[in-house]
Amino acid sequence: MARADCPICQGSGWKVVERTTEGAQALAADNAGSAAGEPKMVWAIPCDCTVGDRTERVLAKARVPERYRHCDFENYETDNEIENVPRAQLNAWNRSLTQAKLIVERFASEFPVGNEHGLLLIGPCGVGKTHLAVAALKEIVLRGHSGLFYDYRELLKEIQDSYNAESQATEMGVLEPVLKAEILVLDDLGSSKPSLWALETVGYILNTRYNEKRVTLLTTNFLDSDVAANATSLPPARVAGMRAPTIEDSLTDRVGKRIRSRLYEMCRTVEISAPDYRKEIRNISRSAGSSS
Ligand SMILES: Nc1ncnc2c1ncn2[C@@H]1O[C@H](COP(=O)(O)OP(=O)(O)OP(=O)(O)O)[C@@H](O)[C@H]1O
Ligand SMILES: [Mg+2]
Ligand SMILES: [Zn+2]
Repeated sequence: MARADCPICQGSGWKVVERTTEGAQALAADNAGSAAGEPKMVWAIPCDCTVGDRTERVLAKARVPERYRHCDFENYETDNEIENVPRAQLNAWNRSLTQAKLIVERFASEFPVGNEHGLLLIGPCGVGKTHLAVAALKEIVLRGHSGLFYDYRELLKEIQDSYNAESQATEMGVLEPVLKAEILVLDDLGSSKPSLWALETVGYILNTRYNEKRVTLLTTNFLDSDVAANATSLPPARVAGMRAPTIEDSLTDRVGKRIRSRLYEMCRTVEISAPDYRKEIRNISRSAGSSS
């Protein structure tokens, strides 16, 4: 939005620029009745006060939720300190964050070149999977590519709501942008257990995108059972009431074998093992901030 009190555009969002050019002279000659004097070309361009708007517009169009609009690679921290946690454990967590950030950052900066594969960010709650996915999406759409963010449950709901019983099909109005976006972020895959029919639609979306070489970036809390078993065998990090990172269930249980195996094919898996940022880290910096 333009600033209402902007001295240049008085809130209209546009400013008028004029130039004398030869092209304008020709225009003026055609326009026999126009005022005498030096011919000028006059046109309107967005006012300086609207520059921040472009970012907002682009992010809104990509459906990036307000809560995550600030997320970028710069503000993704990889050197967290938590009191009473053994140094070796902290280092391991911070290494995991650093590694994940590196991979996602490189993915974003190289997009679309060399990005035949998407990414599947796997990890427990609050490790910053959505943060990193949004950081990549933001960078890519701000470079002019088309991109969409969809929460998995929301996508299922929109698909379900747009199902037309008469034609027994989902309205293309919902599906088409999801199929066509150059990059799709599908956040929290498996967060609900959908109907068989909805799963088929998700499978169709992933399949079509893959066949048409469109990249999908997914996040999930669910690991495969074999990896999940390993994850729980991590040294217990029950320090100062802190929960060790846990993975809840198997992804295959949630999305079925076919989608899981398609994901293997279409995505590079990035596992993040770290504590819940919302609970363990932000709270610490808040209380540190308030005590100073
Ligand atoms: N390493 C980090 N540096 C800075 N902020 C972080 C970091 N990790 C998480 N956050 C912030 O913590 C909040 C939770 O992160 P996010 O939602 O990305 O986690 P998640 O892994 O997607 O969790 P969930 O599995 O619950 O969806 C967000 O506000 C995010 O910006
Ligand atoms: Mg998330
Ligand atoms: Zn202005």
